Amino acid sequence: MSGQMVHPSALIGTEIAGYRVEGELGRGGMAVVYRAKDLRLGRTVALKLLAPEYTRNDAFRRRFVQESRVAAAIEHPHIVPVFEAGETDGILYIAMCYVTGQDLRALLDRNGPLPVPAALRIAGQLASALDAAHEHDLVHRDVKPANVLVARGVDGDHPEHVYLTDFGIAKKSLSLTGFTRAGEFVGTLDYVAPERITGRPVDGRSDLYSMACVVHETLTGAPPFRRDDDLELLWAHQYDPPPALSVERPGIPAAADEVLRKALAKTPDDRYGSCLEFVAALRTAMAEAGPRGRTPTLVDPHVPGALPAAGPVPDPPAWAGPVLGGPA
Ligand SMILES: Nc1ncnc2c1ncn2[C@@H]1O[C@H](COP(=O)(O)OP(=O)(O)OP(=O)(O)O)[C@@H](O)[C@H]1O
Ligand SMILES: [Mg+2]
Repeated sequence: MSGQMVHPSALIGTEIAGYRVEGELGRGGMAVVYRAKDLRLGRTVALKLLAPEYTRNDAFRRRFVQESRVAAAIEHPHIVPVFEAGETDGILYIAMCYVTGQDLRALLDRNGPLPVPAALRIAGQLASALDAAHEHDLVHRDVKPANVLVARGVDGDHPEHVYLTDFGIAKKSLSLTGFTRAGEFVGTLDYVAPERITGRPVDGRSDLYSMACVVHETLTGAPPFRRDDDLELLWAHQYDPPPALSVERPGIPAAADEVLRKALAKTPDDRYGSCLEFVAALRTAMAEAGPRGRTPTLVDPHVPGALPAAGPVPDPPAWAGPVLGGPA
């Protein structure tokens, strides 16, 4: 099957490098991700295969190999573990931990803006993954909701477990050469930092900017800048002030506007020093909203496993629930 144009669904039921392809999980710009069975260990994995039409494209092949090496190098509870990567019969593949859940893109499309505590929990986990990558001198460069997988968490205090995936266009931050050639932009324009647009050096603070766009979207349902035209969108990232969160989502305190403004600063030096610092500032600002901004705890009557409340139990407010719904 090497080099042939094969429709992705034609692979279902076939065996590739010791994995039996069982079904399609999703597809992106350069690959299709399948649910597959590792026939040696009997476990289910997510098998990412380079789309056949790209197998002869050297730039895409290099990007794919780079992704697997970079992702495999980092071990972190909020980064998708990579098991194996390689090439067989002209097909490039990467086998990784199968995350049961949904990507954040699907979650937002289905639910709209998230409850504030859920958005903060997800932001905190994403921030710890990104800071860990940045400590390894790695920049993700494609932080967006589709690359954030949300699985069910361990208990009511931790209703979601977030995994960051796709270090596909990550590279050593000190190296200014990459696979993105002039005129060929790799990534999504909704989350792109201004310095990437102008070709200035990119580091962890560019991921922080993209993450702030994602956080804005989890809280309001849309990224900060929306324009009809790609060029207008690029212009907005570079020059327009972001809209105020508190206006887009009433109930959010004005202090949070300042936090987002700083995370979305046009100049990296003006942003927070780390992603976790950004989330800490956001939590503090949100706490000013009073109980609505407070993360539910075991003493809250609506939380599973909570201590029994004295008197009538009120209906759980809409913001209190886990975002994945249904029993574990
Ligand atoms: N480890 C995984 N476990 C379960 N589902 C996954 C896993 N990795 C990816 N997916 C699913 O496959 C989809 C497609 O992934 P893919 O990375 O190919 O596309 P993308 O992120 O939308 O775009 P891009 O090519 O720009 O990264 C994801 O959005 C996700 O829903
Ligand atoms: Mg992806």
